Amino acid sequence: MTYNEFYSESISNPENFWKKQAQNIKWFSEPTKILSDNENGYPEWFADGELNACYLCLDKHIEDGFGDEIALIYDSPVTQQIKKFTYNEVKSEVAKLAGGLKSLGVEKGDTVIIYMPMISKAVFAMLACARIGAIHSVVFGGFAPTELATRIDDCKPKVIITASSGIEIDRLLAYKPFVDEAIELASHKPEHVIVFNRKLGARIPFKKYDVDYDALVYGSEEAACEIVKSTHPLYILYTSGTTGKPKGIVRDTGGYVTVLKNSMKQIYDVNPGEVFWAASDVGWVVGHSYIVYAPLLNRTATIVFEGKPVRTPDASTFWRVINEHKVNVMFTAPTAIRAIKKEDPNGDFIKQYDLSSLRLQFLAGERSDIASIDWYKTHINIPVIDHCWQTETGWPMLANMAGIELQPYKPGSAGKPVIGYNIKIFNESGEELGPNKEGFIVAKLPLPPGTLSGLWQNEQRFKESYLSQYPGYYFTGDGGYHDEDGNIWVTGRVDDVINVAGHRLSTSEMEEVVSQHPEVAECAVVGIEDTLKGQIPVGFAILKNNSDIEHFQLQHEIIQLVRNKIGAVAALKNIIVVDKLPKTRSGKTLRKLLRDIVDGKNYQIPSTIEDETSISHLIEVLEQYKIGSFK
Ligand code: COA
Ligand code: AMP
Repeated sequence: MTYNEFYSESISNPENFWKKQAQNIKWFSEPTKILSDNENGYPEWFADGELNACYLCLDKHIEDGFGDEIALIYDSPVTQQIKKFTYNEVKSEVAKLAGGLKSLGVEKGDTVIIYMPMISKAVFAMLACARIGAIHSVVFGGFAPTELATRIDDCKPKVIITASSGIEIDRLLAYKPFVDEAIELASHKPEHVIVFNRKLGARIPFKKYDVDYDALVYGSEEAACEIVKSTHPLYILYTSGTTGKPKGIVRDTGGYVTVLKNSMKQIYDVNPGEVFWAASDVGWVVGHSYIVYAPLLNRTATIVFEGKPVRTPDASTFWRVINEHKVNVMFTAPTAIRAIKKEDPNGDFIKQYDLSSLRLQFLAGERSDIASIDWYKTHINIPVIDHCWQTETGWPMLANMAGIELQPYKPGSAGKPVIGYNIKIFNESGEELGPNKEGFIVAKLPLPPGTLSGLWQNEQRFKESYLSQYPGYYFTGDGGYHDEDGNIWVTGRVDDVINVAGHRLSTSEMEEVVSQHPEVAECAVVGIEDTLKGQIPVGFAILKNNSDIEHFQLQHEIIQLVRNKIGAVAALKNIIVVDKLPKTRSGKTLRKLLRDIVDGKNYQIPSTIEDETSISHLIEVLEQYKIGSFK
């Protein structure tokens, strides 16, 4: 079947299409209702189906006779360890941890926060929750205690699972004190904190709520798989929105496992028994979908990589991992390729490894620059596929569906719509735009299975954020355009969300923190272009009238404040002091104008500007600071 035929069928007869796709999953009770509406009138998939995601990732493969096959490879250049786990081994630890969770009172429907570095136990913790129908919420290790506390208060976990420490290049990061601080800050108090002691020397302050991971697993009986409804939330994953408060994306179970399982062949063209590597982090959606669930559902070995593309120990790491574990298909963020290219422009490290196992390279998380794709292809002669998705969608919405029909490479395009996504480009008033006209990327409802089923206990925000702009359509928050053949180019976010090294961050959230500095009267944070990280945040501050703080002092204090309140991952390193900011007469900061000026793009001064001299002032200041295109 061609891509066009396959895609058209998914759009013209979605119920029939997804009914067939769902047959690739072993349900405990097959769904008879394929597409229906939930109590809020939002479409849901396979409502009466029953299954268990952990069973499908582990037990099923053991029942099928693959218990001794490798399920998970932990490769950690930062601790110089490689450990391989078979399905039997993973299942045994996961089932015991699940039993341990039950013994601590965790039941089906309870929430559990997981705050862990990239170690195999993080995956075991997620699967253990899924096994007993508990809803996990993984929080990325780069977030500070305040961010963790916000999530604790929102999803009210009964238990938190953590590890003693993470490692960032050459730094040991003690996680447990962060968890204690977050619990102190939060109003909701979890009953227990399960701590895996990595024995790397990190401080583990003891609290009454602590439970030792090893002791719990050792002393617990294996728990059986709990049967859950297809619509039962598998997880909540918080992502940045346009306000300071993150959005808790809720993922169902049945729709998600159906699309993930099928996507392994249809999009990534990878088979059971092969090796798939998504070099991301379990704290992001890529980690949830393509480090944990999709490969394991497909019986494809997955790699949990605790390192970076560079400096752990150098720019050869990726190639060493591919060679050593015979990776067949790989997925990473374009930033990683840019980082490697910067350190090894001639690809000398690449030449030292046999990469013949690798068939396809996928990139996502941010816009792929053509130069990096070209560099990659010059040194490794395989297709490099840009594809695009969001925490909300859970799996790709634009891609080159390599397992169905590999489409010709279109430089700069993130591909064509994936099955089930009826993508349109709209103008502001909701009229559909034709080829090569830039507008807002939207998708007609129903979205395909596996996409968000709502925001955690916040129906109103769900509607306001995604559904109310264009009734009947899901609003992605991205801008873009398509060509005559249906290839889509994503031009970037149209809201206050930025993408720093593939990490999604909210500039409004940073603004809230910057404005807490006692010397700051007013501020704006925008994402500017960066050759390595794609985008980086830059803060503009207007100081209080009587302030005489030195710039370096102010910058240092604000950077620390942002690290303490949001986390190091926010990567805010530049603060620019200005006397005024470009604003509309109604007082709205013209952020896009600000961004375009810093990036050296053509800009238009809107007629609604309050004070045109703010532009010349800004340019004068930027010339002094030598930032962005003013370097
Ligand atoms: N726990 C604690 N801190 C973390 C962290 C974690 N899990 N992940 C990142 N940080 C910290 C880093 O140490 C760094 O702190 P610093 O400012 O004190 O050095 C800060 O957060 C920013 O991290 P990062 O954006 O990763 O920048 P970097 O300079 O350390 O590395 C790259 C740059 C390009 C090598 C790195 O960003 C990378 O590997 N990117 C790949 C993108 C990716 O995997 N994206 C996931 C979505 S698909
Ligand atoms: P996240 O929710 O963290 O996965 O971030 C989702 C956002 O990242 C999207 O809304 C896009 O703005 C951006 N993004 C992801 N993949 C791509 C891509 N291939 N091209 C352009 N932007 C992308």
